[in-house]
Amino acid sequence: MNRYGVVTFDGPAASGKSSVAQRVAQVVDLPVVSSGLLYRAATLVAERASIDVDDAAAVMAVLAGHHVDLDPAPGGNRVTIDGDEVTEALHTDEVDALVSAVARHDAVRDWVGERLRSIRPPFVIDGRDMGSVVFPDATHKFYLTASPEVRALRRVGERAADLERVAAAIRRRDALDAKQLRPASDAVRIDTDALSLDEVVTVVLDRLRGTPTVGSVGRDG
Ligand code: CDP
Ligand code: CDP
Repeated sequence: MNRYGVVTFDGPAASGKSSVAQRVAQVVDLPVVSSGLLYRAATLVAERASIDVDDAAAVMAVLAGHHVDLDPAPGGNRVTIDGDEVTEALHTDEVDALVSAVARHDAVRDWVGERLRSIRPPFVIDGRDMGSVVFPDATHKFYLTASPEVRALRRVGERAADLERVAAAIRRRDALDAKQLRPASDAVRIDTDALSLDEVVTVVLDRLRGTPTVGSVGRDG
């Protein structure tokens, strides 16, 4: 078995979790899993069925009628619903707006957790509660942070959108995700506000390779 086991990256939206996880996974030659895609897929199933996403029983009932599969393919995770590829449809404003409501339900969290725990380690994984709840025994845990303003600027760089609207959406999602956003007590926290993607990756790789970086990194330690 690869000596890294499970490596977790948690943090709020646009803190850089998936970009950092992808790059690190490439360097240490591990598959990377994006847990948020399963929440997004559950949301797409609910959206297509036009059900009330605040109704946990209704969400679970529609999920039970579909087969959702996450393939941690090397070129990027692929998600299928009943065999149909839906990966491209998971990052829309509509899914963004509904996903936190779906992810709030304990039954949905169990549904996602079960799927993630069935993936054979070693792998790198990103999410909100990977190190704290789903993989408490992970070998390495990282928690990335950045201010809402910096995160909104990053998102605007990715999708043509208005900065104020994106910032408001990020703040709204932070508030709705707050319960899941508590870092594991043994996670290495990295404030990425003033760091480039490459710099964050370097800090993480140093840690993984055993170069001592004591305590938190960046402003909030
Ligand atoms: O990339 P971004 O942080 O914007 O989103 P994501 O990782 O794809 O996650 C989408 C949503 O799924 C989050 O806003 C959370 O509501 C939920 N989520 C969660 O609750 N727990 C996770 N481990 C991952 C995602
Ligand atoms: O997965 P999460 O929502 O946390 O973030 P992401 O999807 O990786 O998006 C973060 C964006 O900010 C990407 O476009 C990165 O290139 C950029 N970025 C970063 O991730 N980390 C930095 N330190 C600086 C920029």
